[in-house]
Amino acid sequence: MTTRIGVIGAGVMGAGHALMLSSQIAGCQVTAIADADEARARSVAQKLGDARTFSNAHALIHNDEVDAIVVASPDPTHHPLVLECLRLGKPVLCEKPLAVTSRECLEIVEAEMSAGKRLVQVGFMRRFDPGYEAMKSAIDDRRHGLPLFLHCIHRNAVAASYTTSEAIILNTAVHELDAARYLLGEEFVNATARSSRATSAAPGRRPQFLLLETASGVLVDIEAFVDAQYGYDVRAELVCETGAMSLAQTHAIQTYGAGTIGKSLYGDWMGRFDDAYRRELQAWVTAIRMGGHVGASAWDGYASTLTAELCLDAFKSQRMVRIDMDSRPAFYD
Ligand SMILES: NC(=O)c1ccc[n+]([C@@H]2O[C@H](COP(=O)([O-])OP(=O)(O)OC[C@H]3O[C@@H](n4cnc5c(N)ncnc54)[C@H](O)[C@@H]3O)[C@@H](O)[C@H]2O)c1
Repeated sequence: MTTRIGVIGAGVMGAGHALMLSSQIAGCQVTAIADADEARARSVAQKLGDARTFSNAHALIHNDEVDAIVVASPDPTHHPLVLECLRLGKPVLCEKPLAVTSRECLEIVEAEMSAGKRLVQVGFMRRFDPGYEAMKSAIDDRRHGLPLFLHCIHRNAVAASYTTSEAIILNTAVHELDAARYLLGEEFVNATARSSRATSAAPGRRPQFLLLETASGVLVDIEAFVDAQYGYDVRAELVCETGAMSLAQTHAIQTYGAGTIGKSLYGDWMGRFDDAYRRELQAWVTAIRMGGHVGASAWDGYASTLTAELCLDAFKSQRMVRIDMDSRPAFYD
């Protein structure tokens, strides 16, 4: 069976997913692309062959030649589009964050539970990165005893000029929050947020530093710095009772010159997490065929957005904020 996929958003992520789905993922065909700017959808469709284009995302969701949907339009569009997919019972892979507020995420969770079927996957692709997977299995089998500290670094070379200090928490650090929840298998109970001074490259926003504690007492710190200039740099180091482990950096080549040995960095996430996106998309398509669910659930989308919101409260108040989360419904076990 071939799953016919419609992609909403033909920007960086939507175009990347559409091209990867049609050229590298087995068991699917991209039949439709929607973008508010239909010319952009047409330009991606031309590269795919014969996908239909739409300027209205709802028309794509309702189209009879679309079995499943990828939502890769801007964050505020996620909530209504995912709800529409749920109304029609169509599986949806929604880019992170699931929605811009925890209240909207919860509406999605409730709609999915009412539908009685797990239809939503959130695009937290770190869960499909071989490095994070290896780190998780070392944690789960207690290879070095219990975890104590998790240090996370998220640096982008450049960010859009309109990016705010708040967005660095809600849109960027949310990746690290989900990765930490995935690795440690538990929720946070409190959060503190500080920021450094702004940099000369981006005087209008502040690099963020979050410090959180999990229910079992692991401390997690997150540096989220989107104007690092030198490249895209994501790191994680976990310190356990009898050992430590960090993500190995992946480099195709090592260069020698001017008295130094160098390893090149990726310019952005599309290169660094290319393998993770591929594995995420293949797992999603396969799960649709098998009737199962993989990756981050709508509940994970809710938990990470709620935690990010409370980190934002901590940033605004400059106080430690308690995180009280309802327990996960059995539907998401
Ligand atoms: N998983 C990741 O690593 C990752 C990385 C970057 C971005 N993202 C997420 O992916 C999403 C898209 O980000 P991007 O960088 O591709 O943005 P982008 O700005 O490059 O592309 C967004 C596209 O959506 C279109 N659009 C806007 N409103 C629309 C609507 N109502 N219906 C249909 N199309 C609409 C725009 O015209 C644009 O072409 C965001 O939610 C972002 O947070 C995820």
